[in-house]
Amino acid sequence: MALIEFRGVQKAFGPKVVYRGLDLDVFPNEVLTIIGGSGQGKSVMLKMLIGLLSVDAGTIAFDGEVISGRDEACFAAVRRRIAMLFQGAALFDSLSVRDNVAYGLREQRAPEGLVAERVKEALAFVGMEGSEELWPAELSSGMKKRVGLARAIAMRPQVLLYDEPTTGLDPVNVERIIELILHLQRNLDVTSIVVTHDMHSALSISDRIAMIHSGTVIFTGTPAELLASEDRRVRDFVEGNAPEDEAVDELLRSVG
Ligand SMILES: Nc1ncnc2c1ncn2[C@@H]1O[C@H](COP(=O)(O)OP(=O)(O)OP(=O)(O)O)[C@@H](O)[C@H]1O
Ligand SMILES: [Mg+2]
Repeated sequence: MALIEFRGVQKAFGPKVVYRGLDLDVFPNEVLTIIGGSGQGKSVMLKMLIGLLSVDAGTIAFDGEVISGRDEACFAAVRRRIAMLFQGAALFDSLSVRDNVAYGLREQRAPEGLVAERVKEALAFVGMEGSEELWPAELSSGMKKRVGLARAIAMRPQVLLYDEPTTGLDPVNVERIIELILHLQRNLDVTSIVVTHDMHSALSISDRIAMIHSGTVIFTGTPAELLASEDRRVRDFVEGNAPEDEAVDELLRSVG
């Protein structure tokens, strides 16, 4: 059974229709990657899931319960179970690494002893142990992404949402983040939704990939199935976003 279900979800901003009928299932413990061009609604999808944006019609269910259209108390509970790594990492510049990672836990009024323990554990998980006293301005963009991820996992969430986790990073840091996502997936009992337009990342981390286009899902399948798709819109996106990539070559060989 799906852990998260989008059913007939519609969303518009004034005259701008973003979703005209979004149907999508996310299964427990999978990495589902959402691909699609800029402005197609990838970030909006994640924001609707955690109640930062409302839906106009249709439903979103989490763990068997409809959560769309519910009140702020419901979404506060959802956000304790679904943590989001925002596009651009979005650390608070005026807070130390410690206070950034502790932020969500303190919002939940967790006791300080527990906060300190979880901060330490989360930073160790992302390979940033001992960085509690640093300030965001002192961190490279790769380190900022990792601290953002530590902030998300400090809450011990059931679901992790990653919005463009590798965008803007150099190839070495892209690989580190990919490794980290796979490490978390193997070692924490989580379900992950990753938004990216980087085909290399998508093919490296995903159990399944869903492509959104013109307000609806036009493809879902494994990375190999994506590469074998004959849908022109899928082909254009894949070819436009993955020129000469080893992961692509390898998968293409495997699908013949
Ligand atoms: N709060 C908002 N108010 C008005 N329009 C919005 C709002 N949030 C998103 N939009 C619009 O909805 C559309 C989808 O935006 P979204 O941010 O989800 O795109 P995206 O697929 O994440 O793109 P990118 O790859 O550039 O991050 C865009 O046209 C955007 O301008
Ligand atoms: Mg976005």
